[in-house]
Amino acid sequence: MPAGADRAPSRHEDGETDAERLERVRRRFREFGSEYASLPLYGAVSRSVAEDPTTAELLVAAQPGQARPVLWFAALHDLVLRQPDLRAARWYASVVGRDSLPQGDPWPDVRATVLEHADELRHLIASRTTQTNEVNRSVYLAATLAAAGRVGRESSAAPASALGPVALVELGASAGLLLGLDRYLVTAMTTDGIRTSVGDAASPVRCEGLDRSAGHPALGPLPPVLGRAGVDREPVDLEDEDAVRWLLACLWPDVPGRVERFRAARQLMRSRRPPLVLQGDLVDDVAAGVDAARQQARGAGGVDHVIVYSSWALTYVERDRRAALAQKLAGVAETVPRLSWLTAEPPDCVPGLPDDPRTEGAPTVLGLRTWTAGAEAAPRLVGTAHPHGAWVDIW
Ligand SMILES: C[S@@+](CC[C@H](N)C(=O)[O-])C[C@H]1O[C@@H](n2cnc3c(N)ncnc32)[C@H](O)[C@@H]1O
Repeated sequence: MPAGADRAPSRHEDGETDAERLERVRRRFREFGSEYASLPLYGAVSRSVAEDPTTAELLVAAQPGQARPVLWFAALHDLVLRQPDLRAARWYASVVGRDSLPQGDPWPDVRATVLEHADELRHLIASRTTQTNEVNRSVYLAATLAAAGRVGRESSAAPASALGPVALVELGASAGLLLGLDRYLVTAMTTDGIRTSVGDAASPVRCEGLDRSAGHPALGPLPPVLGRAGVDREPVDLEDEDAVRWLLACLWPDVPGRVERFRAARQLMRSRRPPLVLQGDLVDDVAAGVDAARQQARGAGGVDHVIVYSSWALTYVERDRRAALAQKLAGVAETVPRLSWLTAEPPDCVPGLPDDPRTEGAPTVLGLRTWTAGAEAAPRLVGTAHPHGAWVDIW
C-alpha cells in the first residue's frame, strides 16, 4: 500500500475533497460543452477537458465560487494573447484573425499548450476572477433610453426622443466602454429586415441586435451626452495593457464580432476624452458618480436630466444592498431636476419594478424608474433582451 493511502483525503473549507471538486469541475465542462456545442473552439475544447482530468484539474485552484469553465478559458486566452507563437494560439480568432482560422480539431494543440504552461495557468486561475465589459450591450441601453424618451408621449405620433441633454452615470462600469454608446453606431434590425440605426454613423464601433419589438422600432434618437462617469469596485484603466488584455481574454473569441468590437471601442474611447470611472462601491458611491458626471456636464452648459444605469452589475450585489441603492437614488433625485434609473439585469433583481409574466425566463429585463423634482413616477418594465444585446424586445 503506498504511503499515506490509508489517510483521509484532505477537505476544503466547504467540506469537499479534491477528487469531489475535480468531478464537479469536469461536470461543468461537460455542461458548458453541450450548452455551447456550436462554438468550434470553446465547445469542442470544453468537451475534451471534461474527459481529461489533467487539464480539468487546473480549475480546482480557483477561488471559492469561481471554478467555472469561463475562468479556465480566460486564463488560456490571456496566455495566447501574450504569446501568439504558442501552438494553441492559431485556433484563436483574436490572435490570427477570423479569416485565418484553421479547420479541424483544436484539442491536440490546446492540450499541449495547457500542459506546457500548467503552472502559469494555475496561477492565473487561482488569482483572477472573470470580468467583462460587453460593448454590444449598447443595443439594449440605447433601446431603454429610447423608451425613457417616450414616457408621457405614448399617444404622440412624433418619433423623436423627449430626452434633452443628459449626464450618464454607469454603476458597475468596468472599463467604461458602455459610457460611450453615443460614440458608436447602434443598429437594430426587425425580423422583417427593417434597420434602424442611432449614434455616430461614422463610428468604427458597430453594435447590432435583432429588434423583436412589436408596434414600434426599439431604437430612437440618442440624447446629447454632456457628461459621463462610472463607478466600479475594480475599474479597468483603458491605458493599462495587462488589465485590458484580461478583459479581452474574458470574451469568447468564437463569437463573431465580440473581440473586434471590444478592441475598436477601446481605441475609440482612448482617442476621445475617456470616461471617468471612479473606484468605489456602486451603492456607497453613487452620489459621487452623479456629482462627477454633472460636474463634467456643467462645463458644457449643464443638464437637467441625469441618467443612471446598471447593466449586469446589480445582480452581483446582495439583495439588501440593492434596496439601499434604490433609497440612495431617491435621495439623489431630490438634488437634480430629473433623474432616471435604467436597469438591464436578470429577472427579479431590481427593487421596485413591477412583476410581469413576460419577464419569466427572460435573460435580461429592462427597467426604468424616473423621479422629477424628487417625486417618482410609477416604475415600469420596458422590455427584455439578450444578455449581450444580440436581440431586444421593447414592449
Ligand atoms: C459583468 S460586469 C458588467 C460590466 C458592464 N456594466 C457591462 O455591462 O459590460 C459587472 C461589473 O460590476 C462591478 N461590480 C460588481 N459589484 C460591484 C459593487 N458592489 N460596486 C461597484 N462595482 C461592482 C464589477 O467589478 C464589474 O466590473
